[in-house]
This record gives sequence, structure tokens and C-alpha cells, in this order.
Amino acid sequence: MTTAAIIDGKAFAADLRARVAVGAAAFERQAGRKAGLAVVLVGEDPASQVYVRNKGKQTVEAGMASFEHKLPADTTQADLIALVERLNADPLVDGILVQLPLPGHLDEQAVVERISPDKDVDGLTPTSTGRLALGLPGLVPCTPLGCLMLLKDRLGSLSGLDAVVIGRSILVGKPMAQLLLAESCTVTIAHSRTQNLPEVVRRADIVVAAVGRPEMVKADWLKPGATVIDVGINRVPAAEEGKTRLVGDVDFAGASAVAGAITPVPGGVGPMTIAVLLRNTLVAAHRNAGVALEDDAL
Ligand code: GUN
Repeated sequence: MTTAAIIDGKAFAADLRARVAVGAAAFERQAGRKAGLAVVLVGEDPASQVYVRNKGKQTVEAGMASFEHKLPADTTQADLIALVERLNADPLVDGILVQLPLPGHLDEQAVVERISPDKDVDGLTPTSTGRLALGLPGLVPCTPLGCLMLLKDRLGSLSGLDAVVIGRSILVGKPMAQLLLAESCTVTIAHSRTQNLPEVVRRADIVVAAVGRPEMVKADWLKPGATVIDVGINRVPAAEEGKTRLVGDVDFAGASAVAGAITPVPGGVGPMTIAVLLRNTLVAAHRNAGVALEDDAL
């Protein structure tokens, strides 16, 4: 029985944030202003409020300007789009993130499409997704880019490896598959209708699980030595009455006896998302200000 190496996303993210902070200070010296990130939150979803607070805090800690826009749950589509247009035109704003999901009466896609591609630090506009599909440089969604960084740090070249991405969301699954394809992996996108999922996963040198089903991926689905990236964050009842705990989409205890390396939950992929958001904001700031980015270690 092997024991997988634990991929420490928390430490990697801290290191990335430190590099972003150095880059942000250099940007401020050259551009005469801080790089700026605007985050828009509509309504009072408690999980979204926590994310938005953490984004604002980490943006300031990295030496960038944070602009938070909190709108009431009954905000109209027209008012939300008017805010996005104002942020598009604001020279102090380099990145715009509209926190998803939006309340049901708002058309998410229509709102995202109004974000200037130059400020699309979430990589969700048709321009960004199209450029990714074309293999052109552009802003890439934060979570899958964070997963790719962890994979390359662990494995070096990914060329020729078999990768299975479980999940086809626009935030994770689809862009993850495009990124792995660009690294010359042989990519399979599996989803809820995939037949013989365990068999499909067993082929993979790289497994990225992003389905939102607690501990769905079992140890005997894995090829021995596979690298497993667990994007899931699921809250489940804990052994102790009334308590909850976080688990991923992978049965960590079982899988870590078979995998070569695996991300834990929490402390794996989760901390990477905001770190990459800060990195994307700094990249966008350089482009928007016409300042060359010195350090391609970002
Ligand atoms: N909600 C959960 N994750 C994300 C994300 O990466 N970006 C946005 N905009 N909303 C989210």
C-alpha cells in the first residue's frame, strides 16, 4: 500500500500571494497607482459574503486596492449592468468580479458579457473563454488555473498524460479541460451522464474532481500513482451531533492509499482560487496600464 504525497495548496497559495505582493509593489512604483480589483456582490448569501470578505482582505494584504460593491437582493438587471459599465470605465479598476450565483431574477450570462474582457479576471466572458479555446493568451478562470499550477509544480511536464476531468461547469470543468489540452494531455471530460465512470477514471494519470458530490471518487477508481486534484468543497454532518465538516469530491482516506499525490480538503485547491484572482488582477493591471510585467514566475 502506498501513501500519497499531500499537495499543499495552502502553502503554494501563500507563496503565490507573496510573489503577487512583490509584483504589486513594483507595479505601483511604475504606474503611480495601485492595481485595483472591484468585487460586486448582489444579495446576502452567507457563503458569498464570506468569499467576498476574504477577497477584499487578501487584495489589500497584497498591496492592491479593493473596491467592494454590495447591492440589495432586489437589484434590477439594468442597475447591475450600469454598475458594471461604470467599473469598465473606471481607470482605477483593473479587474471586475461579479460574485456568482446571482439571485434568480438576474441573467448571469448577460451580466458577465458586459464585463470588459480587459478586466475579466474571472475569465468568464465569451472573449476570454474563446481565447482559451483558441490557445491564445488571455485571462483564465482562477480555480482551474490554480489546479494547473499545482499539477505542474508536482509533475513538471504534463505532455502525453491521460487526464480525466469530472464535471463540465463553466467555472471549473470546461476551462480545466482546455488548460490540460494546451499542456498536451489526452483529456476526457466526464459528467453526470458518463457511463462506467470508475472505468473512465481508472485510465487517468491526472484526475480533477469538480462535481460537488461528497466523497464520490473512490480508491478503487484510481490508477495507482495517479495525481488527484479535488476541487469539491462539501459540508456534511460530522460524527459529533450537530457539527459539520468539509469533505471533497474524493474519498480522501481511501484515495490517499492508492494515489501518487492528492490535494486535501480543506487546504488544497481552495486557497488557490483567491491567490490566482490576485495574480490575474496584477496581470490585467499591467496590460491596462501599458506597464511590462517583469516577473513571469507569476
Ligand atoms: N462563485 C464561486 N466561485 C466563483 C468564482 O470563481 N467566480 C465568481 N465570480 N463567482 C464564484
